[in-house]
Amino acid sequence: MKAKRLAAEKAAEKIKSGMVVGLGSGSTANWAIKKIGEMVKEGLQIEALASSVKSESLAKEYNIPLRSFEGLESIDIAIDGADEIDKNRNLIKGGGGSLLREKIIDFNSKLFYVIADESKLVNTLGKFPLPIEIIPFGHELTLKQLQLIGCTPVIRKIDDNPFISDNGNLIADCHFGIIKDPQDLNERLKMIVGVVETGLFSSRFVTSVFVGFENGDVRVF
Ligand code: 5RP
Repeated sequence: MKAKRLAAEKAAEKIKSGMVVGLGSGSTANWAIKKIGEMVKEGLQIEALASSVKSESLAKEYNIPLRSFEGLESIDIAIDGADEIDKNRNLIKGGGGSLLREKIIDFNSKLFYVIADESKLVNTLGKFPLPIEIIPFGHELTLKQLQLIGCTPVIRKIDDNPFISDNGNLIADCHFGIIKDPQDLNERLKMIVGVVETGLFSSRFVTSVFVGFENGDVRVF
């Protein structure tokens, strides 16, 4: 808990007045949103975009000014959590099911800071099942295509009902085992009709990763 908060607050300190800020989703991103809320209370002037309905309501709770995408020139900085981070800074995201909106915001941001505790660091991605957002229509066929690519997909459920994303889609949690080439896998998955987006986030878009440790350290790489 402390480690996530430390990483989140350190990254939030990079925000300056005048910036358009992308707010991530998840427990670590929530710490960043709270910190940004405090900074706004102290006079920071920003406009924010939320990557999930939950983040939007937290931002409203903390009086963070939100804006729409209409007329948006660019996003200056996005701060978001991750489920796995490899040594090259490739990520698996989507544990909270918000991967599509997160990806739209994070990949369109000039600066993308990833925040996490040390438990998220791995040598190679793949222990965490890869979340993939898929269209409900004909999803049985989409799951078959995912199987052909080499994973065991499981439709995410909450209390025995399918989890529905903020975009009205399903999430297939895909067990691939070790992912040797995230870029190649992402490209192959995106070719499948019915796949909306994957939780593989390429290192090409990551500016820095802030990792918090329980002893109070924050390492940036
Ligand atoms: C949500 C995400 C989250 O950023 C990811 O699941 C990490 O969550 P947490 O900070 O709670 O460990 O991708 O879709």
